[in-house]
Amino acid sequence: MQRKARTLGARFGLANGGGPNHRGAHVPPSRTWHPREDLQQAAGNAPHLFILPFMIEPFVHESSIVHPTAKLGNGVKVWQFCHVMQDAELDDGTSLGQNVMIGPKVRLGKNCKVQNNVSVYEGVTCEDEVFLGPSMVFTNVMNPRSGVNRKSEFRTTLVRKGATIGANATIVCGVELGRYCFIGAGAVILKSVPDFALMVGNPARQVGWMSMRGQRLHFGDDGKAQCPEEGRWYLKLADGRVQEEAI
Ligand SMILES: CC(C)(COP(=O)(O)OP(=O)(O)OC[C@H]1O[C@@H](n2cnc3c(N)ncnc32)[C@H](O)[C@@H]1OP(=O)(O)O)[C@@H](O)C(=O)NCCC(=O)NCCS
Repeated sequence: MQRKARTLGARFGLANGGGPNHRGAHVPPSRTWHPREDLQQAAGNAPHLFILPFMIEPFVHESSIVHPTAKLGNGVKVWQFCHVMQDAELDDGTSLGQNVMIGPKVRLGKNCKVQNNVSVYEGVTCEDEVFLGPSMVFTNVMNPRSGVNRKSEFRTTLVRKGATIGANATIVCGVELGRYCFIGAGAVILKSVPDFALMVGNPARQVGWMSMRGQRLHFGDDGKAQCPEEGRWYLKLADGRVQEEAI
């Protein structure tokens, strides 16, 4: 398994432990970190260390720091200058761009994309396929004062599956962002957001609906809208919520 992971890494120019490459030429060992081996060594082969049995080795750039108790799933990528703190969990396929901080106990689901310069503070949870745009901002304290310790007052933020948060948006803590909602660039979110809602502005207001593919939905009098990209139908329910057609 280890052999396969290295071959894959070498193929994508990521992790390379040295030795012959796929063309037989000698490649010196790169200084790129191999999380599985290095973590095991660092933790003295501690049995509590989370290593999936058949994993595609995560890639962690040499400039980044991942705490030994953090859990990285299959194919996770951690690019330059990131810090993943204790007990954070990044599920399969998730990637962190440059200069990303993942706080203690934060959980990111499968295939999340975190763009450059994002800090995901303790108290934030993202389900699968969440997109966090460049330099967007989470918060976890409502009324911070430098001289007051409010660590016991962190408010949580839950980002549901498939949600997109645009560049430079700010999420004031204590809210839930619904499935596949779309937060426009620069929006300031103060309240929870329904599934599929499109929010823009400061304070953010709902200006429409977005499909799972990120296309605007225009509802007819029959309460139905079709995604122009995928063809999937959406239904506006009597209580105002929007639901997707199961395919
Ligand atoms: C929200 C968004 C998807 C809207 O795109 P759109 O459907 O093409 O919307 P339009 O450009 O037709 O704009 C519709 C209206 O909303 C306004 N609007 C659009 N995006 C806005 C935003 N982010 N903030 C405030 N107002 C916005 C427009 O000014 C326009 O207003 P008007 O009708 O009074 O003229 C897009 O503007 C956006 O913010 N995308 C996120 C990009 C991003 O952050 N990417 C990160 C990865 S690089």
